[in-house]
Amino acid sequence: MKNSRRSFISKSALGVGALSTLSFVNKSNSKIDLKSIKDGLPNDGNEFWADVKNLFPTDKNDTYFNNGTLGVQSNYVLNAVINDMRNNAINGAKTDYKGEGPNLLAGYDPYLKIREKLGMILNCDFKEISLIQNATFGMNFVAHGLNLKKGDEVINTNQEHGGGYAAWKQLEKRKGIVYKQAILPVPADSKEDIINSVLSMITSKTKVIAIPHIVSVYGTVMPIKEICEFARKKGIFTVIDGAQAVGQIDVDLKDLSCDAYYSSLHKWLLSPPGNGILYLNNSISKDIWPTLSSYNWDNKEDKGFSLQQSGTGNPSLRVGLEASIDFFNMIGGEKWIKRVKHLGKYLRDGLKELENVEIVSSHNEDLCAGLTTYKVDGINGPELQKTLWERERLQPRSVGKELLRHSVHIYNNEEEIDRTFDVIKSI
Ligand SMILES: Cc1ncc(COP(=O)(O)O)c(C=O)c1O
Repeated sequence: MKNSRRSFISKSALGVGALSTLSFVNKSNSKIDLKSIKDGLPNDGNEFWADVKNLFPTDKNDTYFNNGTLGVQSNYVLNAVINDMRNNAINGAKTDYKGEGPNLLAGYDPYLKIREKLGMILNCDFKEISLIQNATFGMNFVAHGLNLKKGDEVINTNQEHGGGYAAWKQLEKRKGIVYKQAILPVPADSKEDIINSVLSMITSKTKVIAIPHIVSVYGTVMPIKEICEFARKKGIFTVIDGAQAVGQIDVDLKDLSCDAYYSSLHKWLLSPPGNGILYLNNSISKDIWPTLSSYNWDNKEDKGFSLQQSGTGNPSLRVGLEASIDFFNMIGGEKWIKRVKHLGKYLRDGLKELENVEIVSSHNEDLCAGLTTYKVDGINGPELQKTLWERERLQPRSVGKELLRHSVHIYNNEEEIDRTFDVIKSI
């Protein structure tokens, strides 16, 4: 790489030290131009990804492999959030609270532009999207917004996160709905087995199918489309927990044909923590009551807005959300998702060569992306996590007593994965 470009990247406002040196006077002064970042990046290949890695603030001695829990925000996104918060504190007095000056409260604005940008990525109308805090809010807004009654059946799976099952369990206790779990295979190698495990639970009383798009522990990319299409024909409401999906795989909501979908954008879209979405298909959104109500609770013209108004929140997190969407588009959605898949496959291919490793995630690449879970002979998950950190400063995450869940994202590279293999080989 030419020295001039390297020095551009390290010296620009995107560099690691940038946060402390920026002066925060007003928005225009602190605006960092995404186009010049893009112009500074090579077209493709390893050089491109090496420069992308430099757009993130992670300590250069460390490797973060725990994106399934929380993503790392780029310097661009961090700057946007911090600048905005500081700007609001400095210039808050200038607002007459009638729409002039900085936006001080997150919970009242329709955020049309952000929702439009998300609609473009997710292939839906912006009015079908509500900006919410996270996936857990999404599950609760749907479960409590539907008017379920005693005896109505809900099909969930045995591989849910708490943010995918707890609201349904609450309704079981509170309202007497019937909560059922489909037992998903481990490893989940066959699409048909997954589909059958869910569809075989359907009865004449089934009202809702609530399942993950990507399974939290194993990273299985579920055959959602087939399940939703079947459910639609039967008049069963489908709600998909996409906490792990947006930014990890391509999510096309029209194509998936689900009724509702929610996601945590602070995971794979690398948005600031506290950003999520809820999608409700136009054709069913009238059937969902808002769980949190404010002025717009009955807004029939913009249903997404009616579920989004939540009182005072941090508007800088919304500024950061928009920055993270712009950052994703700057890299290019297709390129981003291909990179996650490439690194995931690189990890799985290497692990398959190691005699002491058992992959418990799917062995079917059609059902895999950036999350891989495995176990290593003779060492439990927490000990393996500790060993990887102590020897090589690699930080995946253990799950339960046995397993290690290893996430890879655009800021990771093959060399970091190779060092994981070296440590595992030596065990
Ligand atoms: C599948 C799934 N659903 C829901 C959640 C909850 O996400 P959040 O804590 O952002 O609400 C997670 C978090 O890891 C998850 O993996």
